[in-house]
Amino acid sequence: MPAEPGTVLEISAPDDWHVHLRDGEALSAVAPFTARQFRRAIVMPNLRPPIQTVGEAEAYRKRILEACGDAAFAPLMTLYLTETTEPEEVDRAAASEFVAGIKLYPAGATTNSEAGVHSLSGLYRVFERMEERDLVLEVHGEVTDRQADVFDRERLFLERELAPLVERFQRLRVVFEHVTTREAVDFVRETKGRVGATITPQHLLLNRNALFAGGIRPHNYCLPVLKREEHRRALVDAATSGHSRFFLGTDSAPHSRSSKETACGCAGVFSAPLALELYAEVFDNEDRLDQFEAFASTNGPAFYGLPKNTDRVRLCKQPRAVPTEYDFGSETIVPFRAGEQVSWVLLA
Ligand code: DOR
Ligand code: ZN
Repeated sequence: MPAEPGTVLEISAPDDWHVHLRDGEALSAVAPFTARQFRRAIVMPNLRPPIQTVGEAEAYRKRILEACGDAAFAPLMTLYLTETTEPEEVDRAAASEFVAGIKLYPAGATTNSEAGVHSLSGLYRVFERMEERDLVLEVHGEVTDRQADVFDRERLFLERELAPLVERFQRLRVVFEHVTTREAVDFVRETKGRVGATITPQHLLLNRNALFAGGIRPHNYCLPVLKREEHRRALVDAATSGHSRFFLGTDSAPHSRSSKETACGCAGVFSAPLALELYAEVFDNEDRLDQFEAFASTNGPAFYGLPKNTDRVRLCKQPRAVPTEYDFGSETIVPFRAGEQVSWVLLA
């Protein structure tokens, strides 16, 4: 039975283990939403140009903190892996207080991934050093082969690239980011301890029908693309099971309205203003609110070897309207569920 209206749920303060905050006026527009909902967030490095060094991450982190004002928010930074990344950068990252991992984008897989990696074999020295330093590798897991069906790209990456990598580097800790398939969920369950996964709200709430519901729906388009219902079901089972290696990562990926509503729209769902409430809805629908804290607040820090947040937050089951758009610098941005309702609200 889903919770009664008015039910209050209290959990340890949550973190977002995968978010895009952008830079400049976009950063100022979106970062406060994440800082209000979460105590920490793993910030993706796919800026133009990408964040490749600890020095660049440090400067970007300062810009993020400025954009968040006095919110008690700690950005955890990631470096963008390229074919020229040196093992010494891994040393510097591991020694820094604020770099939490290195992000692997297959070249051409998604937004600003052109500087990413064509072949993993040239990077074995980097992966070895990451094992030694116990630095987490965050992976966008999709093949970039344009012949491959877009709905199969995650499964094919898992078979061709990720499974062999995890086999070769037995001590490497990996986060399989924004998993979207049953195969990915099964793989995480089978790899004992070293592989975790983030799951987004949209992949828990929608299947691929939502891309074409009554017409094309650009605001539901992200990468990896939404999958069939059987995959959504596997993700919901994993997230709500309490399994320690599945945790919250919104992949909130802001793009202006004009760059989404166009002939070739950008990939990304903007969920930052209501992410926690969306996840609560998933757990409530499954009658698994008892597992919400594990997914939102416990499993992520445990995987990253960080302490759980000590303060607590409260959510109330009370419908609220989702705005149709927000300001986004000189443009506007359309959030997930724009103009509809979400059934929980995060209390101040
Ligand atoms: O939909 C997505 N948007 N997927 C990604 O992997 C990147 C992201 C972005 O940066 O816009
Ligand atoms: Zn992302």
